[in-house]
Amino acid sequence: MLKAVNLKTEYKTNPLGMDEPCPRFSYELQGDGLFQKKYRIIVQAEKKVVWDSGFVKDERCNQIPYNGKPLKPFTCYDWKVQVRDENGKVGTSTEKAFFETGFLEKKWSANWILGTYGHCYRKPVQRFIRRFSIDKKIVKARLYTTALGVYEAYLNGKKVSADLFSPGWTDYHHRVQYQAYDVTKMLKRGFNTLADYLGEGWFCGTIPRLNNLGEPAYGPFPMLMQELHLFYEDGTSEKIVSDNQFHTVNHPYSIIMSDIYMGEIYDANEGADSWMLSETEFSYETPAKLFEGDFKKNFFKACPDYHSKKLPEVVWNSGAPVREIMTLEPVSIKKRKQTGTYIVDFGQNLTGRERFLLKKSFRGTTITIRHGEMLNEDGSLYTRNLRQAQATTVYYAANSRKQVIYEPKFTYYGFRYLEISGWPGELKKDQIEAVVIHSDLPDTGHFECSNEMINKLFSNILWGQRGNFLDNPTDCPQRDERLGWTGDTQVFINEATYNMYAPEFYTKWIHDLNSCKEPGLGYPHYIPFAYKKCRFAAGWADAAFICPDVMLKKYGDTRLLETYFDKMKDYFQVQLKKSEGNLIVQNAIFGDWLNLDDPTSKELISTAYLAGMTALMAHHAELLGRKEDAEELKTLSLNVKKAYQKEFFVKNELKEKSQTAALLTLHFDLAPKAAYQNVCNSLLENLASRGNHLATGFLGTPLLLKILTNIGKTDLAYEILQKTDYPGWLYPITQGATTMWERWNSWTEENGFGDINMNSFNHYAYGAVGEWFYETICGIQPLSDTLDQTGFKQFLLAPEFGTSLQYATATYVSQYGPIVSSWQREEKAIFWAFCVPPGTTALVRLPGQDTALKEAGLIKQKNGIFLANPGEYLVEIEQ
Ligand code: BGC
Repeated sequence: MLKAVNLKTEYKTNPLGMDEPCPRFSYELQGDGLFQKKYRIIVQAEKKVVWDSGFVKDERCNQIPYNGKPLKPFTCYDWKVQVRDENGKVGTSTEKAFFETGFLEKKWSANWILGTYGHCYRKPVQRFIRRFSIDKKIVKARLYTTALGVYEAYLNGKKVSADLFSPGWTDYHHRVQYQAYDVTKMLKRGFNTLADYLGEGWFCGTIPRLNNLGEPAYGPFPMLMQELHLFYEDGTSEKIVSDNQFHTVNHPYSIIMSDIYMGEIYDANEGADSWMLSETEFSYETPAKLFEGDFKKNFFKACPDYHSKKLPEVVWNSGAPVREIMTLEPVSIKKRKQTGTYIVDFGQNLTGRERFLLKKSFRGTTITIRHGEMLNEDGSLYTRNLRQAQATTVYYAANSRKQVIYEPKFTYYGFRYLEISGWPGELKKDQIEAVVIHSDLPDTGHFECSNEMINKLFSNILWGQRGNFLDNPTDCPQRDERLGWTGDTQVFINEATYNMYAPEFYTKWIHDLNSCKEPGLGYPHYIPFAYKKCRFAAGWADAAFICPDVMLKKYGDTRLLETYFDKMKDYFQVQLKKSEGNLIVQNAIFGDWLNLDDPTSKELISTAYLAGMTALMAHHAELLGRKEDAEELKTLSLNVKKAYQKEFFVKNELKEKSQTAALLTLHFDLAPKAAYQNVCNSLLENLASRGNHLATGFLGTPLLLKILTNIGKTDLAYEILQKTDYPGWLYPITQGATTMWERWNSWTEENGFGDINMNSFNHYAYGAVGEWFYETICGIQPLSDTLDQTGFKQFLLAPEFGTSLQYATATYVSQYGPIVSSWQREEKAIFWAFCVPPGTTALVRLPGQDTALKEAGLIKQKNGIFLANPGEYLVEIEQ
């Protein structure tokens, strides 16, 4: 019998404050059966059935849309699922699954409130307190909370949740998320307090000012909005909403400044969190100000370019929360003789911040902590690559006999090393730790092989992902960027979604990508994008197509494609308007970014992407049943392809000889038939002329190994991957890398540091190569030729056993459960074991191994493909 487990609504386990009118359900199958033949979903609210799907003939167990009575706001819906397997046996889910709606169409009763400052930049973190009393028994309480800024909410002195940097960074011109928390157990009879810290964050800190001549692009000061809904045993209810009964607690401030790029200044003399328990008002408290009158006027006046005199829409939190994920201890602490400062090494470049413990402290002690990814030759901290980001914590100690634990609040750093000055006495290892912070996503992928350096590379890729998954997919976590660069995102999303379960994370980002897209304009080059003038760049803006495509392949998500179909289509028109009628476009602002003296023309890049993306979207249109669109896009794509061939080929030769020119041509299938082999040769010759080293940049590098595989040169791909000299993936490892670097030579033993203007030591883009580990070394690949295959309902297994490896193993936890592909080279044979989860089928491609596949129990299909039903298999491949 099959049973449904791991029940999710809109990719989340039991979400609160969910405002999707038609949420999608998913679950995993476990048990003896092979396939779900029918499912039945029953949804109840207040013990009444609001939707009973009846038994539906369908093998899918995800992306099932709710189709019952309209959902009501603030209501809890329980759901369960029954699955009937191929033998007619029915299993019912036993785990508790529910979703609770939030506001849906309902308006907030709360007000946006603000603190002391009308204009606010690098000012103290605001504090709010609302005192209230409860004299009846509480049965349920929910806190709905958001900010234009970043907030932390507390009830009776305790943090309401482990979430950090809420409400996250969205396109604040259009949308801001709210969070919903079950706070029933945090309240008590009698006196209670709801308190908040409110920082500037991504809303009005340095980030949205840096490219705006220092002026804020979203708004000049942060604001908070909250509703606490209380339900009593006697059936009555009450709401506490942000208004002028909330007080701001002014001077003295403990957090003097907390800014994402700049760091934090903290004065311990002003007490930690005790203010939020005070029953009596402080003399320096004032009622919070409402967002009205002059505040409102000044707010919109401060950024006239950006507002239509409207605050953003408050939307539910479709993203994933940012949390503390782990802590690392120092591997060494050294005191520098010259300066008396400590250098703390955590042995791993990471994203987060420090947490320290002071056993006792004295007023007058100032501890300054600077963060760096590397050390200079003389052992001092290297910070030049941070550019304008100061990335410094300053802690003013107070007199205290008790131990104090401190961690900054609204800032984060990219670092491996700390430089600590002013530490009182000797700094010991148990007094300082690194707190690793990122979006909290379950790990879904693992790869290991017999080459230890490739394993280290895989670890570096994972750390690159951890370091750049802080609410948005960022380019780097340390310097004054930390932006959701679209190019970096599109090259890495496929690898990222093997490593972690990330549909929420990318759904949120894709919403922001599209909310920035104005009719007649392109997609900006990073998201969220705070500014008005939108520059769009080929290979970057195309994230708008590539990211939803990965969501379709990995999770079967069609909703994003449906929702944004028209905007996506509009982007083609925007490009074509600039093409001067010949379908050759030129919007590749960044070219093949950071290529190694092997440039590709902007026209070639842009036109290749246009041809590729129109073809991809034609395919999407077909899958969505949009026949006319599919035809129109197919024709457009073919015409662009023809124009490309006319412009960039001469006598069946690609005019441009760069590696990336050949890679893009092959990747988007743009070569005339008669020229195909020449393009392959051009790539191989270029590689050979460099001793089989890559020279590609951000756009070419992620394609290199997979294209080599596609053209039958997997051995060469293995050779390039395993090169340990410059340039290549393993070279930074020989130089001590613990994350992916922006450049292959960001630092070398021979020449020291690379160009300081662009020298991040935590830049995941080149980590895209990890997809080749899953998809080629172990051969696990999603299929999307038909809608039925998507979301790993049916997938391909086509490993390519590299002669230089003894073994390799990959696990990918798909929505249907773990897919494992693992091979080991023995004396006379290769043993390949794989596992196909219940509810799915694998198509297996292993040329020349028909007998071995048959013996292993696979069923022969057409074109050398074999079918594997759910189960475990072992194939013995003679060598
Ligand atoms: C970022 C890149 C990004 C690029 C655009 C850089 O500053 O760090 O990763 O894609 O700009 O060329």
